Amino acid sequence: MTTSTSVGSQQASSEKADAYINTLISLKGDETKYPFPVIEDAKKRIEDVLEIDAKGEDNHVPRDPRLLRLTGAHPFNAEAPLSLLYDTGFLTPAAIHFVRNHGPVPKVQDEEILNWEISIEGMVQNPMVLTLRDLISEFTQYTVPITLVCAGNRRKEQNMVKKGAGFNWGAAGISNSLWTGAMLGDVIRKAKPHRKARFVWMEGADNPANGAYGTCVRLPWVLDPERSIMLAYKQNGCLLEPDHGKPLRVVIPGVIGGRSVKWLKKLIVAETPSTNWYHYFDNKVLPTMVTPEEAKANKEWWKDERYTVYNLNIQSIIVYPENRELMQFKDINSESNETYPVRGFAYNGGGIRVGRVEISLDRGKSWRLAEIDYPEDKYRDAGIFELFGGEVNVCERMSYLCWCFWKIDVKKIELKNAKDIVVRAMDENMCVQPRDMYWNVTSMLNNWWYRVAVQSEENGAIRFEHPVHATKGGNNGGWMDRIKAEGGNILSRTWGEKEGDDNQDENEGGITQAMIDFEMMTNPEKLNIVITKEELSKHSTETDCWFVVNGQVYDGVPYLDEHPGGAQSITLVAGEDATDDFMAIHSDNAKKALAKFHLGALEGSEKTEKAPSNHDSVNLSPTFLEPKKWKKAKLLKREEISPDSRIFSFELEHSEQTSGLPVGQHLFIRYKDSKGLVMRAYTPKSCHRTKGVLEILIKVYFPKGNIPGGRMTMLLENLKIGDHIEVKGPIGEFEYHGYGEFTINKETRKTKSFLMVSGGSGLTPCYQVFKEIVTNPEDSTEVDFYFGNRNKIDILCKEEIDQYVKLKPSTFRVNYVLSSKEAVADQSWKGLTGYIDSGKLDNYAANRKYKDEDFMVLICGPPAMNDGVKEWARRNNVPDKNIFCF
Ligand code: MTE
Repeated sequence: MTTSTSVGSQQASSEKADAYINTLISLKGDETKYPFPVIEDAKKRIEDVLEIDAKGEDNHVPRDPRLLRLTGAHPFNAEAPLSLLYDTGFLTPAAIHFVRNHGPVPKVQDEEILNWEISIEGMVQNPMVLTLRDLISEFTQYTVPITLVCAGNRRKEQNMVKKGAGFNWGAAGISNSLWTGAMLGDVIRKAKPHRKARFVWMEGADNPANGAYGTCVRLPWVLDPERSIMLAYKQNGCLLEPDHGKPLRVVIPGVIGGRSVKWLKKLIVAETPSTNWYHYFDNKVLPTMVTPEEAKANKEWWKDERYTVYNLNIQSIIVYPENRELMQFKDINSESNETYPVRGFAYNGGGIRVGRVEISLDRGKSWRLAEIDYPEDKYRDAGIFELFGGEVNVCERMSYLCWCFWKIDVKKIELKNAKDIVVRAMDENMCVQPRDMYWNVTSMLNNWWYRVAVQSEENGAIRFEHPVHATKGGNNGGWMDRIKAEGGNILSRTWGEKEGDDNQDENEGGITQAMIDFEMMTNPEKLNIVITKEELSKHSTETDCWFVVNGQVYDGVPYLDEHPGGAQSITLVAGEDATDDFMAIHSDNAKKALAKFHLGALEGSEKTEKAPSNHDSVNLSPTFLEPKKWKKAKLLKREEISPDSRIFSFELEHSEQTSGLPVGQHLFIRYKDSKGLVMRAYTPKSCHRTKGVLEILIKVYFPKGNIPGGRMTMLLENLKIGDHIEVKGPIGEFEYHGYGEFTINKETRKTKSFLMVSGGSGLTPCYQVFKEIVTNPEDSTEVDFYFGNRNKIDILCKEEIDQYVKLKPSTFRVNYVLSSKEAVADQSWKGLTGYIDSGKLDNYAANRKYKDEDFMVLICGPPAMNDGVKEWARRNNVPDKNIFCF
C-alpha cells in the first residue's frame, strides 16, 4: 500500500490532479482526516424533507425534488431525468444520484457516526467488531471514482414487452461519485479468512419487508486491488447521505448496485453464497422461458447460483437527442452539412473497459464509430494524490470502474432520412450489446441496442422518441408505448414499425411479420390437422373452449387458470375468431405460449373468416351487451364535466334497452383508425337500470409538452356525434348484488362494510358499487371511500358524491385526498392531502375497528396506489380474499 511519504513524492502530479479535480467538482472536500470533518457542509447540500416524505417513515431524509420517484411515496426509489444526469457530467452529486431502497432508511444521528459498529465474523481467525472511528484510523483511506448501476436499469423497456417482477427504471439508474473509505480487502485480511472461505456476506441495518437486507460478494474479488471494493463513509467529499448508506456502506465497482450494501452492520466470511432472502429472491437473471407464474411457483430457480448476477454487462445509452425532442428543417436543404452531436454514455462490468461505441442509422446494416471520452483516465494519468482524506491511486490498477461518454456528429439531413438511431457498445473482451432483448422475469441487465425512433412531424420537422419515459405508473411517452398501442410487435426486426420501406425490408429477407407470428404460434406437428367449423362449435362453452387466431384453432382450457387477464377473456371467445383481440394486446411471449395449445388449422380458409357480426340486424333484446360479440354503439352526446373529463353517451339499440352490465363489472370498447386497433376496458357511469343509453365517464389524456396523449382517450375525444365505437362485455370477476352480498370469481359472499379506494378515473367501478348501496335505503352496508386526485378540479362527480353522502351520512363516508403541491398548500382545502398511503388508511383503521368486522377492500387506481393499499391491507392482516383490485 502506498503511504503518505509516497504521496509527498508525487507532489507535482498531485497538484495537477487537484487542479483538475477541483474544476471537475463543485463540492468542497475536507482535508483533515480525523477528528471528523464537515458534517455541516454535507448537510447543506440537500436540506429539505419533502412534503411527500414528511409523514412517513423517511421523515428524517432530505431529498432533491428533481429526482423522479418510481415507486410512489415509499420506499424511495428514484432516478434523475436522463439529460440532467448527463449534463451534470462525470461526477454525480449525491442529491441526484439514483436511489434504490427496499424499505425505510435507518435513522442515524451525526453524533453516532464515529461509534457505528460493524462485526466481522464467520470463517475468520480473528473475528472482530470495528467502529467507524477504527476503520478510519487503523486502515489506509482511499478515494475512488466509481460508477454504481442498479441491475434493473432500463427495466421499463422489458416491462413494456411483458410485465415482470420489478418496477419501472428508465435509463438513469446509474450514477458516478468519488467514494472515500477503507478497502474491504484490507479489513477482511486483518480478520484472517480461512483457506476454504469463498464469499463475504454483508448485511445492512435496514429492515425491509423480508428482514435485514443482505447479499454477498466473492472473497477473491474482495482481496483483489483491481476490484477496489470499498467500505465508504464519504461520497464526493461529504459524509454519506441517509439514502446512500449513512454512515457506512459497501461500494462494489463493476458489479450490480444491489451488492453494495448500505447502512452496513455485519460482514460474514463463508464458504457458500449468502442465504439472505434478498440474495435468493433478487438480483437474478433467470432463463428467459421462466414466466412470472413459474418463478413464483418454483422457488428452486431462485436458489440456483448460476443465475445470480454479479458483474454488470456492456451497455450504451443515447441521451441526446432527448425523448420527444423536435428538430426543425426550415433553413436546411438536402445539401446542408449542418450536423447534430448525437451523444450519450456507456459502461461495463467487471473492470473491463468499453472498447468502442457505434451507431447505426439504417437498422444495423452499417455502423459508424463514435468518439469516446473516458474521464477516469484523467485520474489514472494524475498519479497518486490525496483527496477528501483518501489516497487516489487509480494509476496503480488497470481496471475500469467508471462510465464513459460518447459522441458523434451526424448531418441533420441524415437524421431526417433515418427511421431511427441505434447505439451499441463493445467491450475489450469483444462482448457486444445484443440486438435482441433477453426478457427475464426480474427484467434485469436489459442491454439490447438503445433505439431512438425518428418520427416525421408537420412542416417537415422530425421528432425523436426514446424507448420509454421514466415515470412511475403510466407508459406514455416512448416509441414502445406507441408501437404497443398500434398493435405492433416491439420485438420484431423493425421494432414493430410497419410503414414505408420496412415491410420491403422484411420481404427482402423473405420474412414477414405474419411468418414470424405463424412460426411462433403454431406447433409443427399439428399443422396437418384440419378442424371443421362444426367441431369448433362443439367446444364453445365456459368449460370447453376452443378459439381461433389467424386461422388456427387453439384449446383455451389448459390456460384458464394461468391466463394473466383472467379466465373470462378466454371463455368470452369460446368457439369464436379471436384474432383481432389477441393480436392487439399480446406480446411475442404470449404468442409463443399459444403454440402449446395449438390443435390444428380451421377448415376452408388460410385466413379464417371473422365471426359473424350482428351489427346490422335489429336487436330487440332487453339488454345490449353480448359477451362474445362486438356491437356498434353510436355517439349521441359528449358532455365536458371538467377541462379533461367527459361523459360520452352512446345510443343503445332501443329506448327500453338496458346495458346488461352487472354492478362492478366492465366492458371493452374498441375503435379502429388508420393506425390500427385500440381496445380498452371501461366501467360505465350509467347504471344497469339506465335505459336507452350507455354513459361512459372518461378522463382524457391530452398530449403534454413532449408526452403524447392517451391513444384511446384522444380517439374518443375526437369522435363526432353520430360516429360509432364497438362494445363487448360484460367482463370482470366482481359483482355486487345488494345488501352486502357480492360475488368474486363465482363465489358469493357477504360483507358489512367496504373500504373503497380510487384514484382519478379509477372512480367508476367503486362509484357503481357505492351508488347501488347508497341509493337503496334498505341497503345498510357501510362504505368508507378514499378518492385520490391531484387537484380539486380533478375530482370527478364531486357534487354527485357529496349528495350521496347527504343521503346516508352515517354509513357513507368520503375522504377526498389531493396530492398536488398547490392543493397541499391551499389553506382553504379542508380534505386530506398527499398521497393515499398507509398513514391515511391507518387513520381509517383506528376509527373502524375493521379487524372485528367482515370487511372488503375494493381498489381501483394507478399501480403504485393499488400496491400501497394492498401492502397496507396485508400489513394489517387483511386476508387476501378480502382485497379486490378492479
Ligand atoms: N443496502 C441495503 N441495506 N438496503 C437496500 O435496500 N439496495 C441495494 C444496494 N444496497 C439496498 C442496499 C440496491 S438494489 C442498489 S441498486 C444500491 O444499494 C443502490 O445504492 P444507492 O441507493 O446509494 O444508489
